[in-house]
Parts: sequence; structure tokens; C-alpha cells
Amino acid sequence: MEFDLAQTDALLTTTRAVRKRLDFDRPVPREIITRCIEIAVQAPTASNSQLWRWMIVDDPAKRAQIAEIYRATMADRQKVTEPWDSLGRTAQTDRVHDSAGYLRANLERVPVLVIPCVEGRPAPDAAPASLSATYGSIFPAVWSFQLALRSRGLGSVFTSVLGFREREVAELLGIPDYVLQVAMIPVAYTLGTDFKPAERPPVSEIMHWNEW
Ligand SMILES: Cc1cc2nc3c(=O)[nH]c(=O)nc-3n(C[C@H](O)[C@H](O)[C@H](O)COP(=O)(O)O)c2cc1C
Repeated sequence: MEFDLAQTDALLTTTRAVRKRLDFDRPVPREIITRCIEIAVQAPTASNSQLWRWMIVDDPAKRAQIAEIYRATMADRQKVTEPWDSLGRTAQTDRVHDSAGYLRANLERVPVLVIPCVEGRPAPDAAPASLSATYGSIFPAVWSFQLALRSRGLGSVFTSVLGFREREVAELLGIPDYVLQVAMIPVAYTLGTDFKPAERPPVSEIMHWNEW
């Protein structure tokens, strides 16, 4: 099988976290979400566990309630200093904060909110290998889902903050206790499709061959 490298590389390098360019007014057909999840679950899982579960919320009243929880969570987080805050402000991080504020203000307007989940949660003292197996068995699928959306003209953004109020979301949506919510992905068609590769450090600064 020959791939069109120009196309596949463009897909892989231009799938961005989309917040300000989500089209709130264009409905997203359920079949598109279903097809993208069919593609996503081709991703690998630890021991072929396939314990992923996908909660999809397109009901406007429930989206509004999730948006309220999201805003409350972000308000809580503003009081906390994360380790990466010390990395310093750059034009890029300023843009991310501005864009995150826009999403926070408009979340209920996003037509579909997808909450990827895993059945079973790691123990509080879980070893790195167990954590890796749990989250590593859903994150590749989530990224495939986002790539499949992008190739169909839709955008998304991986968000994690809702997990700080996982219980409230579980109660709202009837998600059982043994199901771990790993993210909340707002999904919509994008306003335009011309996204660019992001600025990243040269890989020579982050690669180590044979010795650290
Ligand atoms: C594990 C993870 C957690 C994230 N959590 C959030 C979040 O809670 N809210 C948000 O707006 N974006 C979140 N993002 C999106 C990042 O801010 C975004 O991917 C990053 O700024 C790089 O932008 P790019 O994906 O367009 O290159 C998260 C991304 C990852 C991978």
C-alpha cells in the first residue's frame, strides 16, 4: 500500500487544538462521530484490552450543564500553580490561554462533546507501568479520533480539566464508578480548514541517541 506522504504528513502536522475556529452553528451528524470512533478503535491497547468506552453528548441541556462544571473547574484551577507554569510565558502560551478562555466562555455552543473513558481505574499508588497501560490504552485512540475528524473538516481539542470534577460529570451522565473519564473533547466543523504546523523546538534538542 502506497501512502500519499504529502497528505498524511499534512494531516499529522496540522491537526491543532481548535477552539476559536469551531463552527457552533453547523450541526454535526451522528454518523460522522460514529465513523470516526470506528477508525479510532483500530488504535493499540495494552494486552489488547480494548476497555475504551465513549460517552457522546449532543443534548443541548446536558452540554450546558457540562459547560457549567467546566467553568467551575477552570475557576478552581486558577488558584493552583501547575509545575509547567514555571516554564514561563511566551507568545504561544499567551495565545493558548486566550483561546482556552474563549472555549470556556462558549463551551455549551459546541455541538458535540465527547468523553473518552476506560473501564477500570488505576490504584492510587499505581506504578508508572500501570498508569502507562491505562492511559496509553485510550490516548492513541483519542488522537486517531481527532485526526479522523480533521480529515473530514471537523476540529477538536483535547481537554483534561473536567477530570477534576469527574464525579459531577458521572452523576450528570450516569457514568458508573468503575469507568474512568480521561478527557472531554469538544467537536465541531471548523471555520476554514487551513491549519498550519505549530512551532516546536528542533528535534535535535530533544532526541538522545544511545546515551542521554
Ligand atoms: C493531556 C492534554 C491535556 C490538555 N488539556 C487541555 C485543557 O484542559 N483545556 C484546553 O483548552 N486545552 C487542553 N489541551 C490542549 C493543549 O493546550 C494544546 O494541545 C497545546 O496548547 C498545543 O496546541 P496544538 O495542539 O494546537 O499544537 C490539552 C492537551 C493535552 C495533550
